[in-house]
Amino acid sequence: SASATRSSLAHASGIAAVTIVGSGIMGAGIAQVSAHHGKDVRLVDLSEENLARGKAAIEGSLKRVLKKEADVDAAVADVMARITFTSSMEEALKGSDLLVEAVYEDPETKRQIFGVAQQYADDECIFATNTSSLSVNSICNGVRPERFGGLHFFNPVPMLKLVEVIKTDETSDATADALREFAAEVGKEPIVCKDTPGFVVNRLLVPYLQSAVDMMERGDASKEDIDKAMKLGAGMPMGPFELLDVIGLDTAALIINSWVRTHGDTFNATPAIDKLVSDGKFGRKNGEGFYKY
Ligand code: CAA
Repeated sequence: SASATRSSLAHASGIAAVTIVGSGIMGAGIAQVSAHHGKDVRLVDLSEENLARGKAAIEGSLKRVLKKEADVDAAVADVMARITFTSSMEEALKGSDLLVEAVYEDPETKRQIFGVAQQYADDECIFATNTSSLSVNSICNGVRPERFGGLHFFNPVPMLKLVEVIKTDETSDATADALREFAAEVGKEPIVCKDTPGFVVNRLLVPYLQSAVDMMERGDASKEDIDKAMKLGAGMPMGPFELLDVIGLDTAALIINSWVRTHGDTFNATPAIDKLVSDGKFGRKNGEGFYKY
C-alpha cells in the first residue's frame, strides 16, 4: 500500500537510491527512514549475521512507527521491500546517488570504506559520513572532496528530527544543498554547520553529560536525582544518565577520549565512564550501564 510511505515519491535532491554502509543502530535507522520515505535503499554490512540483526531492528521499529496503520504487517512489508540487504559494496553501489557510511568510530575503517566505494560508485554519487566525533575532512582524505560531506543523524533515528549537514572547506554548495534536500525528503529537519569537533549538538551535549557524571562523582547529588532534576526542571525528555545509557557508554567513551586526544584544551576525560566500559557495562544495548535494564 502507498499509505505506509509518508512523502510523495519526489526526489528533488537528485537522490533516489541510497547505499548505507553499516547495519548497526545508526545505519539501520537511516535505512529505515530512507525506505519509509520512498528511497531505494541498499544496506551493506560484512556478515549475514550483522545484516539479520539490522533487519530485525528495522522491522521492530517500523512496527512501532506504523502501529496505527490498518494492516501493520503489510505496511511494514511495503517499506521492507525497498531495502536490499547485501555484503557486496559493488552490488550496493550500482546506480546509487548517495553513500552514507555509518560504521563504528574508527577513522581508518571509514577511510578504507570510502576507498573501496570510490572503485564502484558512479562519479556523481555523493559520499557522506555519519560520524559523530571525527573530522569529516580527515575521513574524506581527498576522495571526491567536492562531493563529500557529513550527514549526522541522531539516535533513535526514527524519532529525532534533526540532521546535521557538515560542510568541509571543500564540500561544494551543490553537495550541501543535495544533502539538505535529502534529509528533508526522509522527514528530517536539516541544519548546516562547519567541520568542527562535535559539530553543533555533541559540542554542547557531551560537556553537559560529562558535567552530570562529575557532579555525581563529587557526591553533589545521586544520578537518580540529577536525572529527575533535568527532566522536571529543564524539560529534557531523558536525564543525562538515562541518555548516556541510550547513546552507549562505549560510544560515549570513544567520542570523549578521541576529543581528549585531539582537543585536550576543550574536552576533559571522564574516568567514571571509562570504568563502566572496562567493566563491560555499555548501557541499554547490553543490559547495564549507569542503570540496569
Ligand atoms: N523506533 C520507533 N518508535 C520509537 C522508538 C524507536 N526506536 N523509540 C520510541 N519510539 C516511539 C514509539 O511510538 C513509542 O511508543 P511505543 O512504545 O508505544 O511504541 C513512543 O516513541 C514513546 O517512546 P517511549 O515511551 O519509549 O519514551 P519517550 O516518550 O521518552 O520517547 C525518545 C523516547 C524519543 C527516545 C525520547 O526519550 C528522547 O527524545 N530522548 C532523548 C534522545 C536524545 O537526546 N538522543 C540524542 C542522543 S545523542 C546522539 O545521537 C548523537 C551522538 O552522536 C552520540
